[in-house]
Amino acid sequence: MSAAVNRDLLLVNAAHPLGDTTPPPLAPATPETPHILLERRAAALLNALLDSVGGRGRIAAVSGYRSRSEQQAIWDETWAAEGPDFTNSYVARPGCSEHETGLAIDLGLLGDGELDFIRPNFPEDGVAGDFRRAAADFGFILRYPAGKEAVTGIAHEPWHFRFVGVPHSRRMAQLGLTLEEYLEELQNYSETKPLHITQGRYDFTVYTAPRRPRRLPSGYVQLCPTGGGCVVTAWR
Ligand code: DAL
Ligand code: ZN
Repeated sequence: MSAAVNRDLLLVNAAHPLGDTTPPPLAPATPETPHILLERRAAALLNALLDSVGGRGRIAAVSGYRSRSEQQAIWDETWAAEGPDFTNSYVARPGCSEHETGLAIDLGLLGDGELDFIRPNFPEDGVAGDFRRAAADFGFILRYPAGKEAVTGIAHEPWHFRFVGVPHSRRMAQLGLTLEEYLEELQNYSETKPLHITQGRYDFTVYTAPRRPRRLPSGYVQLCPTGGGCVVTAWR
């Protein structure tokens, strides 16, 4: 039995820079924004999510995959225009942005006027609120919530969503955990003492292995390097 290997749970923050800069397979984030790219599976699920909340034509992709040099240019321009406090709050250092993984998407509500590139308007109510509430069912989490600034190192960003995949997105949303906190929690589970999650008609078994395991559980298996180990997710 083989396993799918992906970076859905890879932790990228100031303390965990992204080593490898090879872009994943990319696709347009939405058909309306062919120049904004996202990891292929994340793009497919973003579009399914937008359709499910009637967001097409009302919610726009503002920024998706960024190369290291693009992140550097955004950092430099923001620093020059807005100064260090603003930049440190809203822009990750080059090499430490999860936009470089292709798994992060910034969204804005279309309406009057142009959307800000660094802080697009994505309100709590209306279709943006519907999107936010449905996001976890499609594998996305609000990555930088209010009140977790000390954990993430980034200010509240209501527009920035990260693809982590189901069942992880649902469990993180239910428990109110950031990716940092969730990966910490998963350290408590091992091959001999795994976490069992039931969602719908699926039973998931989840645990952290110190490295990519050679022996795999039965069923469908996904392996996600996190930076500090490898999360094994199996389901049937
Ligand atoms: N705005 C987020 C933190 C980034 O630059 O990756
Ligand atoms: Zn972002």
